[in-house]
This record gives sequence, C-alpha cells and structure tokens, in this order.
Amino acid sequence: MYDAPVPDDLETDVCIVGAGISGLSVAYALVRDGTTVTVVDDGPVGGGETGRTSAHLSCALDDRYSHLESLFGETGARLAAQSHRAAIASIEATVTQLQIACEFRRVDGYLFAPCTQPPESHGLAPELARELAAATRAGLDVTEAVSAPLPFATGRCLRFADQAEFQPVAYLRGLAAAVIAAGGRIHTGVRVHAIEGGDAPHVQLAGGRVIRAKSIVDASNASITNRYDLPLRQAAYRSYVIGFDLAPGEIPHALYWDTEDPYHYLRVARGEDGREILLVGGADHRTGHGEPMKAWDALEAWARERMPSVGPAVTRWSGQIMEPADALGYIGAARGRPNVFVVSGDSGNGLTNGAIAGLLLPALLRGESHLWAALYAPTRSRHHGLGTLVQESVSSIVPYADWLGGSEVSSLAEIAPGNGAVLRHGAHRIAAYRDASGGCSLRSARCPHLHAVVRWNPVERSWDCPAHGSRFEPCGTVVNSPSAHDLPTLDAEIEAAVRAGESAALQPRLTRTPRIAQGAYYVATGLWPVLHLRSFEAVTGRKRNAWLIRALGGLIATVGTALLTDDIAGPGRARRLGLGAAVALGLTGLYLTVSRRGSRSYVAEVAIEAGFAAAWLAASHRGPDAAAR
Ligand SMILES: Cc1cc2nc3c(=O)[nH]c(=O)nc-3n(C[C@H](O)[C@H](O)[C@H](O)COP(=O)(O)OP(=O)(O)OC[C@H]3O[C@@H](n4cnc5c(N)ncnc54)[C@H](O)[C@@H]3O)c2cc1C
Ligand code: FES
Repeated sequence: MYDAPVPDDLETDVCIVGAGISGLSVAYALVRDGTTVTVVDDGPVGGGETGRTSAHLSCALDDRYSHLESLFGETGARLAAQSHRAAIASIEATVTQLQIACEFRRVDGYLFAPCTQPPESHGLAPELARELAAATRAGLDVTEAVSAPLPFATGRCLRFADQAEFQPVAYLRGLAAAVIAAGGRIHTGVRVHAIEGGDAPHVQLAGGRVIRAKSIVDASNASITNRYDLPLRQAAYRSYVIGFDLAPGEIPHALYWDTEDPYHYLRVARGEDGREILLVGGADHRTGHGEPMKAWDALEAWARERMPSVGPAVTRWSGQIMEPADALGYIGAARGRPNVFVVSGDSGNGLTNGAIAGLLLPALLRGESHLWAALYAPTRSRHHGLGTLVQESVSSIVPYADWLGGSEVSSLAEIAPGNGAVLRHGAHRIAAYRDASGGCSLRSARCPHLHAVVRWNPVERSWDCPAHGSRFEPCGTVVNSPSAHDLPTLDAEIEAAVRAGESAALQPRLTRTPRIAQGAYYVATGLWPVLHLRSFEAVTGRKRNAWLIRALGGLIATVGTALLTDDIAGPGRARRLGLGAAVALGLTGLYLTVSRRGSRSYVAEVAIEAGFAAAWLAASHRGPDAAAR
C-alpha cells in the first residue's frame, strides 16, 4: 500500500526510520504541526514488534515503581507514571479524533504474586505492598484487591484503574492514513543502512541513495544510529504469546500480570465467530540464548494447570523486547549525532513508550525543553542500573566464545529441511540453512553489528544474534536491528569448498574429553589477566600500566595462538605450536616466580599457566583429527 519508490534527491523536514507505533506516533504529531515528514520502513506498516505485541496499554510499568524510585528517585518515578498515563490518554484521543476502529477500551489492570496457599490465609505479598506504596506515591490510581477476576486463586493483588487495550495494527493503519492525509510520506520496503547526523543530516538507503532531512528520528526499535551506544545499554529478549479459545465473558476484559521472573501476562482479545481468545504471554529469554522450543509448552502448561476450562490453543507467536539496563525507554537526542533523535529501549511497555515519543520528540525537535526530557534522555547517566548493565554485558560477551567452537554438524547433508546449523570452515563460521525443497543457503554467520556468531532459532526459523539481538531470515536478510545489514555473503571459494562437502573443511564439534579440556583452557585464559592484576596488587612499587600491558598482551597472545593452531595449522603443527607456547608460558611463569620469590600470587599464576597450557595441549588434539576418527 505504501510501496511507491522513494523519489530521487528527496528532501524533507524530518525523516523517520520505522513505521511502528514509535515512528508513526511521532510522524502524526509532526504533520499536525505542518512539518513535512517522510517515514521509511523495510517492512510493512506495523510489521515490526508493534504487530507482535499482546497490546496491554498500561502505566503499571513492568519494571515496578519501587525499582524506578531506587533508580530515578520519587520525582523520576512520578514523571514516568505521568508520561505513561498521558500516553494512554493520547492514544485514546487519537482513536476518537480519527475514528479508528481498533477496539480501544479502558480496562483495569491486576498485578498478583504467585499464590501457593489459600488466598484468605495471607495478606498482600511484600513485593506488592512495596509496589502499592511506590505506585501511589507516583500518583497512580492503585488499590489493593481481594483477588483478580481470573478463574484461579491469585490471592490479594493490586488493581490499577484506567489501563487500556486495543488492536495495535488497526491503530497504526489509522495513524498511517492520517499521516498521508496531512501531506506526509510513507515508503515501505525501504532498507536504511545508516543514519548520519551533523550539519547535513541524511539517511543512507540500501542501494546508495540518500534522503536529506533537517532532523532524523531513529524509530527502528533497537536503534541503528550508533552501533555502540544504545545497543550496548539494553538487552534483547524474546517473549512468547499463546492464545486459547474462550467462551465470551468467561474471563473479564482486563490486563493481568504476575510477579514471577520471567512474569506472565494475560488479557482477553476478540476471536473468530463471536468467540474470545485468552492471550497468555511470557517465558522471556535473552535472544539467541535459552530454549525457544520449550517456551510455548511452558506457557500452555502454566495456563492449563490454572485454567483447565480454556479451549484449544488457536494462535501463538513470539516477538522481541528491548530491556534497557535502567528500566526506562530512551527517547531524545542521540549521543554525539546532532539532529538525530532516537526512540528505543522500551521494555514490555513499548506501546506507551512509542506514544510518549509522539508527545515528547516534537518539542525536542523544535528545540524546546520538556518536563520528561531528562528522564528519557538517551544520554542520561550510565550509572543507573549499573549492576544489571554489567550482568547483561557479560551475557552479551560470553557468546563470542562461539568463534572458538566447532561445527554443529559434520556435513551439510546432516541439516534437515527447514533447519539451520552453524558450520566451521577454518577461521570462518557459516550459517547454513536447508529449505523445504532441499536447497541449501550459505551465509557468513558473523553478525554485521559487532561480529558475534549467530545461532539458529528453530521456533522462528531465524538466525538470532546472542550478543545484542539482531535477527536474520534463514537466507540472511536482516529482520531485527541493531544490525541494518544482512548476513554477509561468502567468498566464492569458501562457498564452493563447503558445498563440495570437503569433510576435512568442516571441523566438527569436539568430543567430550577435549571439549572439557578446551573449556578449562578458555577459563584459564580468562583468569590470567585477572591474576596478573592481583599480582600487581600484591607486589607494590610497580607501574600499573606495565602490568596491564603484560596481562592484555598475554591474553591476546594466548587467544591468538589458539585461533592459529585451531584454524590454520594442521593437527600435527597445532600440537607443536601448543607445546611451544606452553613451554614459553611455563618458562615465563617460572622466571616471574623466581624473580619475585615469596609472592604467593605468582606461584598461583604459574600453576594456572601450567594448567591451561596442559589443557591447551589436550585441546589441540582436535579438528580434522576428530573428523578422521
Ligand atoms: C510478545 C510481545 C508482547 C508485548 N506486549 C506489550 C504490551 O503488552 N504492552 C506494551 O506496551 N508493549 C508490549 N510489547 C512491546 C511493544 O510491542 C514494542 O516495544 C513496540 O511495539 C515497539 O514499537 P516500535 O515502533 O518502537 O518498534 P517496531 O514496531 O518494531 O517498529 C520498528 C520498525 O522499524 C523498521 N526497521 C528496523 N530497522 C530498519 C532499517 N534498517 N531500515 C528500515 N526500517 C527498519 C522495522 O521494520 C519496524 O517496522 C510487547 C512486545 C512483544 C514482542
Ligand atoms: S547484534 Fe550485536 S553482534 Fe550481533
């Protein structure tokens, strides 16, 4: 419908990347002010996460007001409540104004704690009591209720008034039509490769063309503007929804959440032929981690145990949410990119977050101040939620170890139709997918964002990046940002070798024993710099930098040598290199021990070095050797 090509040399006041609720809320607000707006999206309107939501419109934020108070103070929590409440009201006003048939209705929201005892035997769970106090301080209309109106015992819970539900895609269609009617442009099927700020802001399209604009809004959900800033401050999670057939009126329309981790979320939606559907969501896990195959089964088991009367499952889907380390969305000027604004990091409240963007960004684009600007500023301090940031960063970094793993299958023939597997060919990792007709597509498994190795997701049949959540179709086309690019194609020579099925070219997974040995080696390698820093603390009078350099040098040398021995050298040479390195490391450790006699940390260091050198040796009995066994 909006697939007309972008005209050459297009200039516009504001170019918006992304036609989800964030992009279109901003677009609609701007066109009403007389601003010329161009929205581009590589899919259809609402084809991103807005089309995959469970559509709870809520100001009962899933990160909890008690938590927000601890991060942003009472004032911050109050502004968050105020802004999300205003977002629901603005959606309601737009629905009324534009007469959008999207089944918007105001409903209550219920937050309950898992209940293991008869409800009358206990009071409000401590977590809920804390939330009641904090949400009340934040200015919400929240009360304690005896039970949520669900067909199982929820125990005493919280009731939030004035929440809402709607059909987001129908709402977006209405917004898009209004943007066009007011003179805006929407171009779907247009991939953006880069967003450049500064004095001449422009959007770089796939194929080399550009759109010039006075300002640009990156509403691509996970942000493609800066590959290092926001993608490293938030984590991508998959979330699952399953819908059960329901008799009309069996469960009242309301929003329901529990406090488990990951939490369950429920609501009633319209079904076919006058029936209703109970949507049950949850089972969240980091994208590229976890066990997607079990998610829907877990949700179904949870629902049937509590509500045996619900009918058969009639729908299921999954989608992606971006969890900022400090619990609030990022809406505002992009760090270090003049005239570029972003909307991202919306967690499970992305719909209201997108609507807040429609209220906040027009003011910021005009250069005006706004009460909510500091709270949502993408440039706000990184110190809020530092613990979560560190924890999530570790989860993002660990998967880079996939570069050191072997093939998931020993030949292309092992991949069943409709499945994918990562293969190893020397230093390369290859994402191989076999389609239903038996044809095989090969792409590099190196994620274009920051080069982690993608993993096959058998539920979505996609390649998911475990580092920051980019996702790709089986044949490599990007589905989810922060990558704005497809998986790279392979060199013809490599592709030919893999297709020819050279058994020695694919280095299979390690057998159990060397795998453990290699695991020990990697752990030891990781410990080495830590130990050297401890040595620094133990031995005073040394220059810290010298120790740091030595520690980093050691790490680079060991990992580099491991990669060389694994990927380039043949098996015999790998062992010789491993042995040489082990001897060199052992001698270095010995020298350090002797020259710093009495320092126990040095003795420990040598023990570790000897240990990982031995593990390394064991691990070097691998690769093509294993294939030959
Ligand atoms: C299962 C599930 C349940 C949820 N439940 C709720 C809920 O109950 N309440 C709630 O408030 N939120 C919920 N959310 C979150 C919410 O749906 C999303 O956060 C929100 O829809 C995001 O809107 P958006 O406009 O920012 O992103 P999107 O809707 O994803 O839009 C971004 C658009 O940008 C486009 N794009 C990306 N990269 C490029 C590129 N390089 N070039 C061109 N276009 C590009 C995409 O195609 C997409 O259309 C849920 C999410 C999921 C997955
Ligand atoms: S999404 Fe960042 S490396 Fe893949």
